[in-house]
Amino acid sequence: MRQRFDMNQTIAELAAPGVQALRPYTPGKPLSELEREYGIRNAVKLASNENPLGPSPRVLQALQAQFPDLARYPDGNGFALKGELARRLGVAPQNITLGNGSNDVLELVARAFLTARSAAVFSAHAFAVYPIVTQAIGARANVAAAHDGSRGPKFAHDLEAMRAAIDADTRVVFIANPNNPTGTWVAERELRAFVEQVPDTVIVVIDEAYFEYVDEPDYPNAMQWIGEFSNLLVTRTFSKAYGLAALRIGYGVSQAPLADMLNRVRQPFNVNSLALAAAVAALTDQDHLAASVHANRAGMQQLVDGLRALQLDFIPSVGNFVAVDVGRDAGQVYEQLLREGVIVRPVENYGMPGYLRISIGLAAENRRALEALGRVLAR
Ligand SMILES: Cc1ncc(COP(=O)(O)O)c(C=O)c1O
Repeated sequence: MRQRFDMNQTIAELAAPGVQALRPYTPGKPLSELEREYGIRNAVKLASNENPLGPSPRVLQALQAQFPDLARYPDGNGFALKGELARRLGVAPQNITLGNGSNDVLELVARAFLTARSAAVFSAHAFAVYPIVTQAIGARANVAAAHDGSRGPKFAHDLEAMRAAIDADTRVVFIANPNNPTGTWVAERELRAFVEQVPDTVIVVIDEAYFEYVDEPDYPNAMQWIGEFSNLLVTRTFSKAYGLAALRIGYGVSQAPLADMLNRVRQPFNVNSLALAAAVAALTDQDHLAASVHANRAGMQQLVDGLRALQLDFIPSVGNFVAVDVGRDAGQVYEQLLREGVIVRPVENYGMPGYLRISIGLAAENRRALEALGRVLAR
């Protein structure tokens, strides 16, 4: 075959400018890959903020009930799930946008509201999908510096800086509450004031992927403000506390006109029927949710006690993970932990080169991680 160019380069050059410069999202290493590569058995994965208890048993039943219908397309309107969510959240089905994970909803926001001539605002150290969806469109990212520890918790979103980063081109602001990988959060009064002050020509996305885990008196439930702000979208997911990460299902709640715009760019069958049925079943098992949250709290305590015993600094987190300052090249510590059969997440790509993010696992998994970390750091 005749080749007139370096084909790789040519194809890359054909891509949209934003895509050319994109650094893809690095997922946590799968267990199977680690075990294959290193010849290890019984490895533990504390790298992707998953629910170590797994889903509710009711979910497994609901999945089985779907098997006879796998040849059929799913309900593209998600009628049953939207109804169930609407009832529980006190909104109408038209307020809800379902996504293939809440990541999908974040991408719908970018596709519906950003262009190569507009900008999105988010914080330094914020969830990696915000820069990715912004850049894929070719929109500008106005990255606001995070708190440096002088006026608010170090690494936390600085809403004053975020407000200052909004310019005439800004169409979207992404706020993770709490944020991943820092586990930091913004309090109700501050967040509410921010939403009030942002021009209503700017879509404010409040990403509550870890909402169910948080137990702080000042932690806001931004869903309650939907009726007041036409530019507000609150996103949540079934991937974390509900334990359905593999099925990919999340949602956004907003006023109907905003949901209508997201719906225009949504693929007609973006959420599959197994995920839809599983999510309905998961919602009906609030005991399992409570058990998951309870286990997370105990695991977090175990982990922070262990980190303190190792004299390591960490960022206080309200999520199901904690970012630890390992005091040296975290990439190397990550590699050494892999050899110990423990997968965590280096967060250098978040501008935190000395940190590792450890997800909360079962008690035995947390113990494995702490023991391995102790051995690696003693070398
Ligand atoms: C802050 C935040 N938002 C959104 C997501 C997306 O999760 P999913 O697409 O599984 O709903 C994650 C996942 O890690 C997250 O950490």
